[in-house]
Formats: sequence, structure tokens, C-alpha cells
Amino acid sequence: MSDNSQAPAAPARSPASRKRLVRPIPAEGENGVYTQSWFPLALSVDVPKGEIVGREFLDGKVVVFRGENGEVSVVSAYCPHVGADLSVGKVVGNNVQCAFHQWEFNLDGVCVKTGIGDPPPPNAYLFKFPVREKFGIVWAFNGETPLFELPEFPVPEDQLEIVNYKFEVPLQCDGWIFSANTPDMQHLKVVHKIQFNTDDPHDLVDWQQYGFDYTYDAVHQGGVPMKMRLGIRGSSFFWRVGHYDGWWRGTVTGYGLPRGGTHTIFGCNAVMKGPDAQKQLEIAQTLSKRTVNEDIPILNTIHYKPGHLTKADKSLARFLNYLRDYPRAHPSRDFID
Ligand code: FES
Ligand SMILES: [Fe+2]
Repeated sequence: MSDNSQAPAAPARSPASRKRLVRPIPAEGENGVYTQSWFPLALSVDVPKGEIVGREFLDGKVVVFRGENGEVSVVSAYCPHVGADLSVGKVVGNNVQCAFHQWEFNLDGVCVKTGIGDPPPPNAYLFKFPVREKFGIVWAFNGETPLFELPEFPVPEDQLEIVNYKFEVPLQCDGWIFSANTPDMQHLKVVHKIQFNTDDPHDLVDWQQYGFDYTYDAVHQGGVPMKMRLGIRGSSFFWRVGHYDGWWRGTVTGYGLPRGGTHTIFGCNAVMKGPDAQKQLEIAQTLSKRTVNEDIPILNTIHYKPGHLTKADKSLARFLNYLRDYPRAHPSRDFID
């Protein structure tokens, strides 16, 4: 007697059905190019007047130096004479002087003097990156011209108390993967224990050409009320401003790009000046470090391959598309290697 009461078995899935059908997101350095964004290289306090520091950047090397006039510059590290590393040179006035034969380069990276007195060759220059010094951090843009500007805090800086922090040991993934945490509302709940007081605010996300912002009304660990506006600029800049436990707080985090597959973290916390400022800054610094430490075990081991997203991933999905189409280039390639 045949048994017709059972539902037909699901057809066996062929290996082909397990193929990833989504378009991958290009890794930093893939095909020799990197996202065109503002990347942090150093804290301002790490580069006092007359100092020079070397930094890995975009799989190459740059120097960050500050002239005696206080201006900071980011230029390719290798001298166009015969290639000495300028990070072992020194700052003379507003120029960086190479340690090998004492050629000097001004803040624009142009050779203005040779050690022996020969006229500087007309094309002897370094690659000069667009630079901004903001939030106590020195930022360089991967490009000849910035595609966008870093935002300002909505409170004038002279009313703020600001303190910096950094994680210079590189995390083991591209910085845009950290940026993708911001529109990943599910991870905010699971990893950071943030409970929204409303439905997920996907429809409130303000999408822009080079980033997005949205506001959440939520409760943090310990039952702390928070109403924050947060967002990403480019591929490497996170910020969040709003009220935490009733007091105003602003946070910026930048993801540095020493080489593909890694990122460093430079950040700041800001609170309103006043009698409670120091206590609030301590809380803010503890929260920032705790939050990064909650993410680190995941970020250091992830193989970020978006596959099956659901309705709850709506904003994340849109951000991943933004990243897929994001401008990438590497105009300093010939100078920083
Ligand atoms: S290598 Fe820099 S001056 Fe010669
Ligand atoms: Fe996170």
C-alpha cells in the first residue's frame, strides 16, 4: 500500500544553489586602489611644532610634520633624490630636511633647497595629501582633492572639553567593515546591548552622497537613556552626538588605513565645559573604549562576506551598496612605495 499522506521531500540543493549571488565589496587595496576618504594618521599632540613622525598609509609610507609656524602637513615619505626615508630627517623652520643629503621640502612638499647648493630639480616634489586637523586628530584624504568635508560638532568648539583616544595596534579587517557597524542596527542590540524605544529607525536614515546620519532613542546598558544622532562620512569616519543620561556628548572615531586588511582607530570625546565636564569625559572615554572592545573580537576574526540579509538589515544593505559603488583610487602610489 502506498503512503500519499507525506509531503514531497524538498528537492536536494545542488552545490550551485549555494553559490553567493551577491556582488562582493572590493577590499582596500584590491586592484591597487583604496576608498577615497579622510583617514586619521596621528593625534595632534603626537606631532608638536618642529616634529616629524612616519606612518604607514595605503600600503606605503608618509610623514606627518609640523612646521615652526604650527601648520601640519602629510607628504610621501621617500625623498625624490635617492629615496631616503624622511621620517629619520628633521624639521628645519617650516621645511622637512632629508637626513641623507639635506635636501629640504616645504609644507607643500616642494624641494626648495639641496644640501650641496645645486638648484633643486624642477620636478623634485613629494606627494602632498589634502590635510585637516580636527577633533584633535590629523586627517589625510586619499586623493588629489577631497570629495567631501568632515562635519562640525553642532556645538561651537570653544564651548567643549575634548579628549582623544587611540588604538594604534591595527585591527585585522578593513576600516569600512567597522563603519558598516553603524547602519547594522541588529548588532547595536546584540553586541552593544542598546534597546531602541521605537521600531528600528530605517526610514529615518538621512542618506547623502558621502555618508548618512540617523537618530535613535534608546536605553543603553545599565538602563541609561540615550538619544543620539550618529552617522558615517566616506568609508572611515564615524560620529555620534546627542544626550547620554541627560548630558550632551559628542564622539568621533576615524579608521586609519596603514595597509589593506587592517585599520587603526583614532577618536575623541567631547562634552560641554562646566563643573561636570571631567566626570563626563571619564565616562565617555570608558564607554568609547568599552564599545570598541565589544567589537574587537568580531572585527579581528571576521571574513566579511555579506550573503543573506533580511528586512531587519535594510540600512546595512543600503550601506553595503554604497560601499560597492564608492570611489576608489590611489594617486600617491608612485610616491609612497
Ligand atoms: S636621499 Fe634625500 S637628500 Fe639625498
Ligand atoms: Fe559596534
